Amino acid sequence: MRSAWQIWRDRRGRISPLRIGTLALLLLPVALAVYTFATDGFGARPLNDVIHRTGYWALIFVLVSLAVTPLRRVLRYGSMIDVRRMVGVGAFVYAFAHICLYVADQSYDFAKVVSEIVLRLYLTIGFIALLGLAVLAATSTDAMVKRLGALRWRRLHQAVYVIALLALIHYFQQTKADLSVPIFAAGVLLWLMLYRVIAARAERSELSTLALLGLSIVVALIIFAGEAFGIALYYRVSPMRILSTVFDFDVVRPGWLVLGAGLAVVIADLAASWWRGGGAQRGRAPAQA
Ligand code: HEM
Repeated sequence: MRSAWQIWRDRRGRISPLRIGTLALLLLPVALAVYTFATDGFGARPLNDVIHRTGYWALIFVLVSLAVTPLRRVLRYGSMIDVRRMVGVGAFVYAFAHICLYVADQSYDFAKVVSEIVLRLYLTIGFIALLGLAVLAATSTDAMVKRLGALRWRRLHQAVYVIALLALIHYFQQTKADLSVPIFAAGVLLWLMLYRVIAARAERSELSTLALLGLSIVVALIIFAGEAFGIALYYRVSPMRILSTVFDFDVVRPGWLVLGAGLAVVIADLAASWWRGGGAQRGRAPAQA
C-alpha cells in the first residue's frame, strides 16, 4: 500500500514515470519563475508579476486536465487517465496561490479584497472559477468518489467545463493590450469542447484521423473569423479587411497557432496508429467522458 502523499507511485505502489513526468510539468512554472527571478528579476512590480504567472498557469493546467481524455485516445495511452486528477489539483494549487498573492498585493486588507471581488466583474468571475476548482479538488479523492457514487461524481466534475470558460473570460477581461494568447487559449478550449461533442456521437467515442483534421480546421476558421469580427467591432472597420491580412506573417495570428496545435494532434494520431502496428483500433483506450 502506498501513502496518499507518495504521488510519484501508481495505485499499485509502483514508481510511475508518467506521474513523475506530470509532477515535473506541474513544477515547471516554479522553476521558470525561480530562473527569471535569479536572472532578470520580476521587474518593478514583482508581486503583480507572480499574480500573472500563477493565474496563467492555473488556466493552462485546467486546459491540460481537459486535454487528457482526447490525448489518451489519440496516443492510445489509456494509463494517462491516472494523472488527470493530479493536473486538476495542480490547477487549483496555482489558482489558490494566485488569490493569496492578490490578497498580499492588497496589503492583507480583507475588506478591500471582498469589496473588489464583489464590485469588479472580472474578479467576481475569477472568484466563482476558484470556488469551483476548490470543490473539484476537495472531491477528487477515491473516498469522495465512493461517497458520491460514480455517476454523481462524474456529473459534479463536468463543472470543469464551466470553470474553464469562466477562467478564460476572466483572462480576456483583465488583458489590456495583445489578446493573442487569450484568443489562442479560447481556440484550444473550443477544440476540446467540440471534440467531446463529436466523440459523444461517434462509434466507441473515438474520432478518426480525418475527423480530427476536420475539427482542427473548423476551429481554426472560427478563431480567424472571431478575431476578425472582434477587431472589426472594436475599431469599426470591415472584418474583411482584417481577414485579408491573415496571410501576412509578420505577426502570427492565433488562428494559425490553433491550426498548428490541431495538426500536431493529427500527426500524433497517425504516429500512434503507425507505432501500434497500423491497427487503428488496436490498443485504443476505452471510451471515457
Ligand atoms: C478570487 C479569485 C481571483 C482573483 C481575485 C484574481 C485576480 C487576478 C488579478 C488581480 C489579475 C491581474 C490583473 C491585472 O494585473 O490587471 C489576474 C490575472 C489572471 N488570472 Fe486571476 N484571479 C482569480 C481567479 C483566477 C482563476 C481561478 C484563474 C484560472 C483558473 C485565473 C486566471 C488568471 C489569468 C490567466 C490571468 C492573466 C495572467 C496573464 O496576464 O498572463 N484567475 N487575476
